[in-house]
Order: sequence, then structure tokens, then C-alpha cells
Amino acid sequence: MSKVLELRSVTKIYGEKENRVKALDDVTFSIEKGEFVLIVGSSGSGKSTLLNMIGLLDRPTNGTIYIDGIDTTNLSDNNISSFRNNKLGFIFQFSNLLTDLTVFENVLLPRQIAGSKDSAEKDALELLKAVGIEDQINKRANKISGGQAQRVAIARGLVNKPSIVLADEPTGNLDSVTSEKIIQLMKSMAKNLNQTFIVVTHDREHFGNVDRIITIKDGRAFEGEQPSKLEVLV
Ligand SMILES: Nc1ncnc2c1ncn2[C@@H]1O[C@H](COP(=O)(O)OP(=O)(O)OP(=O)(O)O)[C@@H](O)[C@H]1O
Ligand SMILES: [Mg+2]
Repeated sequence: MSKVLELRSVTKIYGEKENRVKALDDVTFSIEKGEFVLIVGSSGSGKSTLLNMIGLLDRPTNGTIYIDGIDTTNLSDNNISSFRNNKLGFIFQFSNLLTDLTVFENVLLPRQIAGSKDSAEKDALELLKAVGIEDQINKRANKISGGQAQRVAIARGLVNKPSIVLADEPTGNLDSVTSEKIIQLMKSMAKNLNQTFIVVTHDREHFGNVDRIITIKDGRAFEGEQPSKLEVLV
């Protein structure tokens, strides 16, 4: 097994003085390649903050995040966006597709930004087949349903063959039948591609068995999901 992610004593503080919020408090854990990890915890516990740190969308106040063994705290702001585009895939609650583009163009976009056009179209098409919407590829992204849009978002999140796919409430905007399908799709894609997924969710029960669950409580990370048995991660 190889480590794709390591957090060492990551703390995030927002605001100052009376507005000061410690959103993450000394979080330390590692994730191995291919693991499907759920991040759970009550509202305001720090889940999105954690995902934003791992996604290099914001920097920790203290601590270090290694992705594929690379210390991301040393990356300049210029380097960080290309690193993010190459190493990470994102799936959001609202699919965030570009509505002026077709389904196919949306999936191709991360590859075009990365500048790696070799086999891009073939890979995008394969992924669109794998997520089950190859019949929609020439439609504009605003002409498809919410569930279809999340399928496109999954294909887009995978097209750069990222080290980690990060998803914040990917089913938060879907009805429960569609949620179930999207969850099974993410799990099967993860397994087939040996792809690491880190998914923040309030929808724990629909996920069934996963490799690992991390609970965030008051900005601290715990292994497992049963409150009485939580062990702080160190
Ligand atoms: N940009 C910000 N500026 C100031 N405080 C913030 C900011 N983002 C989050 N917080 C605060 O940090 C804490 C953790 O927020 P976070 O969004 O990470 O929670 P969450 O677990 O994702 O909650 P939810 O389940 O409701 O999405 C909260 O107290 C929140 O108010
Ligand atoms: Mg959140």
C-alpha cells in the first residue's frame, strides 16, 4: 500500500479576537491509495474546512499536508493550482458544470487545463460510458437532470486520473433513489480504478460498507463512527 495523503497536526483558525473560530484542531491521519473514506460529523464540526485544506483551496494555519509524499505547504500560490489540477479531482454538492458547454466538453475541460491532450477524448468518452450517460454527451450541461449532472461531475472528477477524488456532500442535492445510484456509482468507480475517494456526507447509511470512516467533532478527527468508541487520531 502507498500513502496518498498525510496530514500532520493540521489546525485551521478563521477570524481574529472575538470572531476567532478553531475549525480544525491538531488533525493527524493518513490515507492509502484506493481507500474509500467517509468524513462524517455534525454541522459546523469542520468537515468542509478539512476537505478545503486537503483540496488545497485554502491553507492551514498550522501543520502540514502531504499529497503523494509532497509537502504542499511549500508550494507557491502559482504552483498550487497546477498541482491541484493534476493531483486532485473534485465533486461538489451542486455539480458546478459549465452550462454553456456540452457534457463532453465539461468532462474534457480539466484535461485541457492540465495541457495533457493525448488520449483525452478517448478517456473522457470511456468515463462517460462508465458513468452511464454516453447517450447525453452532446447535450448542453443545463439540459440534463440533477442525477445525470452528478454522473458528469464524477467523470470530470476522474478524467485527470487524480491521486485523490474529494467530494463534499455529492448527494446533498438529490432525492434518495438518485442518491443511492450515485453512491453505488462512486463506490464501483473507486473499486474498478483503485481510486482514492474522500467523501463528506450527512448520508452515511446510504453508503453501506466503506473502507474507513473518520468522524470530525469540534474540529478534531476520530477513527470510526460510534461516538462512545471514538479514538482520537494521532
Ligand atoms: N470562511 C470561514 N470564515 C469563518 N469561519 C468559518 C469559515 N468557514 C467555516 N467557518 C467556521 O468553521 C467551523 C467549521 O465549518 P465547516 O464549514 O467546516 O463545517 P461543516 O462540518 O462542513 O458543516 P456542515 O455539515 O454544515 O457543512 C464552523 O464554526 C464555521 O462557522
Ligand atoms: Mg460542510
